[in-house]
Amino acid sequence: MKKVINVANRLPVTLGSTASSPIRKSSGGLVAALEGVNNDEFQLQSLGWPGVVVDEQNQQAISSTLKNDYDCIPVFLSEDEVDGYYHGLSNSSLWPLLHYNRVYMRYSEADWQAYVAVNQKFANAVLASAQDDDIVWVHDYHLMLLPEMLRKARPALKVGFFLHTPFPSSEIIRCHPRRTELIRGLLGADLIGFHTSSYLRHFRSSALQLLGLESEMTTITSGNHVSSLGVFPIGINSGSFEQELKRPEFFDTLVEYQNNWADKKIVLSVERLDYSKGLLRRLEAIETFLANSEQAKDVVFVFIGVPTRGEVKEYQELREKIEGEVGRINGLYASVQHSPIHFIHQSIPFTALCALYSIADVALVTPLVDGMNLVAKEFIACQGYHPESYDPGVLILSEFAGAAQELLNAIIVNPYDKLEVANSLEKALTMPLAERQERMNYMTARVMQFDSSHWADGFLMQLISHREKLPQPQNMLANESIILQALQQAKRPALFLDYDGTLRDFEDKPEDATPDLHLKGIFTQLANSAIDIFIISGRPASFLEQWLGDYPFTLIAEHGNRYRLPGESDWQSLNNNTDHNWKNPVVDIFRLYEGSTPGCTIEEKQTSVVWHYRQCEPVYAKWKANQLVHDLYDMLGNSPVEIHHGKRIVEVSSIHINKGRAVEHFINQHNYDRIICAGDDQTDETMFRVESDALISIKIGEGDSLAQHRIAGVIPFLNLLQNISNLTPHPDQEQEQDQLPQKLAG
Ligand code: UDP
Ligand code: G6P
Repeated sequence: MKKVINVANRLPVTLGSTASSPIRKSSGGLVAALEGVNNDEFQLQSLGWPGVVVDEQNQQAISSTLKNDYDCIPVFLSEDEVDGYYHGLSNSSLWPLLHYNRVYMRYSEADWQAYVAVNQKFANAVLASAQDDDIVWVHDYHLMLLPEMLRKARPALKVGFFLHTPFPSSEIIRCHPRRTELIRGLLGADLIGFHTSSYLRHFRSSALQLLGLESEMTTITSGNHVSSLGVFPIGINSGSFEQELKRPEFFDTLVEYQNNWADKKIVLSVERLDYSKGLLRRLEAIETFLANSEQAKDVVFVFIGVPTRGEVKEYQELREKIEGEVGRINGLYASVQHSPIHFIHQSIPFTALCALYSIADVALVTPLVDGMNLVAKEFIACQGYHPESYDPGVLILSEFAGAAQELLNAIIVNPYDKLEVANSLEKALTMPLAERQERMNYMTARVMQFDSSHWADGFLMQLISHREKLPQPQNMLANESIILQALQQAKRPALFLDYDGTLRDFEDKPEDATPDLHLKGIFTQLANSAIDIFIISGRPASFLEQWLGDYPFTLIAEHGNRYRLPGESDWQSLNNNTDHNWKNPVVDIFRLYEGSTPGCTIEEKQTSVVWHYRQCEPVYAKWKANQLVHDLYDMLGNSPVEIHHGKRIVEVSSIHINKGRAVEHFINQHNYDRIICAGDDQTDETMFRVESDALISIKIGEGDSLAQHRIAGVIPFLNLLQNISNLTPHPDQEQEQDQLPQKLAG
């Protein structure tokens, strides 16, 4: 069994405020979901804060109780640490921004220092109890620096991170004064998980924009570390609901509530009393309903507002406002026998919660923004408690909850539109039984199957299979003789050479970077060698033909889209995919940026479009290019394209084409026993990933790379090529020569 250390700010249990008060279960979605994770393959242990400040003399005894009775490792925090790290940085600056609330964001340097120190304290606690082959799973926004701290201290540890909140658009997160440190901290993880693909997309574009990193659809490379990104919608602890719904105590509570509200329809809301949950907007919609609906007198609105973060000013103000509004609305719409809103500002026991979910006719779940919202799923899990008379309720769900992306058969509403919410209430309360059953059936199947165990399994399995860290390219100088020797021994060798930045240094204008005399000399020597030469470039066919067409080389243009064999004049296509509908909108957005970035140019190729900014003012243009990449990711989320921010270029190309695929095409056709792939750019990395024992990969210049070898620049690489061209062919190579196309004079 693999040990998984679950690290979250809040342990699944919270200590009482005095030493003698009982230990109780903690509130909130994170705790509820993790509680449901049980698995034969993983042994889970929790590490976190026990929820109160504990005197030093009691810490030892409490540690033992938590360890022995709950398998929890506590991280004790002082009052100042709780203030700065938890109430301060986590809940007064990060939580509001993650929930799109710039107005509530309050930041102080002292809070930041506390956040750094507490993240370090957590790191020390993890390092003290983790073995190298354990998995560390870090949860939520309180611990965003922890993955990087762990990776630096113990690179062998597998570290995963899951964000239980939304990740907002980069326009929002960039308001945080420590945005780069926070994102960098997360990128220490091997796998970063989100509830929805939009949160993933936002995170990726923020990382690219703020840190200028390289990324593919689901990976981000920083230094020599690759973080995978994944979407794992969290589920509920379905087993605990199934079991609860069979218990006699549950039925007793259910009957009690049914008697209490015998002649009423019940509309239920359950949440922590948090401004992200949209309670004030919901009260406006309820008032609209009460003022206009004929059913108003037959409906009771039950609000469970679980106390939360009472030390933070915005939460205190929210509570006061809600109590005021509930009082005002009840005052206006109550009768002698009946008050429309029943507001409970308390945490309630699980049995009572399940009974409320079960008797509710409608669940009104209208957060303004919510990572997932488990309450919606828990309500669904409690609808089948009486299988013989299946009479399910209706879920009204905000379109801004992550759950809305899965629970498509709910009535989906815009929580800011009080008329729409009021009308949905009317619709839900009068919905025919058959429609309620049909809607609920779909959602029940999904919620019960994709539960919290499924979620954790999905995340942990992907984390385990995360590709090992990138090997650092070795120093080329030490290996030149090995490369020459390997080629010398080959009977059928081939070289795949990138052009710009590999064979020829860049010029301000790409059309000026033509082969000079020195390069032409090397081409001639290579032409006379016994090695098959492929020039594989992002350049259009016309350029390669004009400048390299006379050599007996295979020319591969447009990143592997088209090729021309030695001695032939026709170009052939390597690409059978014709979906290029994304090209026109990309050109449009390039044109927009062209207008505001003097000196840039746009190049259209058959399967890609390039925005060149080599001739622009560098600092300004780099900033514009980062912005452009961000816009492209937003616009092209589901298109079959790769966005590549290279050396002074931004290129969008079809994912069906890359240099690696082109190399595979040719090595599958020939029996090469040694292949050298050399390139300087991100697009060359696809060649370095080709799976072949014959491959020797060489990165030219600086930057992260998967290549086995590195060489400093164009000039030393040309020296190597010269040495390669002087090699005496292998004795058996001569015979194979006959099978090669007739070489032309260089
Ligand atoms: N919940 C709780 N105490 C209560 C009532 C509800 O802990 O008195 C639980 C509820 O069952 C659910 C969680 O709190 O599992 C709320 O999760 P959700 O994802 O809806 O919101 P979050 O609190 O994580 O923002
Ligand atoms: C949300 C957060 C959790 C947090 C929970 C309760 O679900 O994502 O990290 O534990 O709210 O909030 P609290 O501040 O009481 O831990």
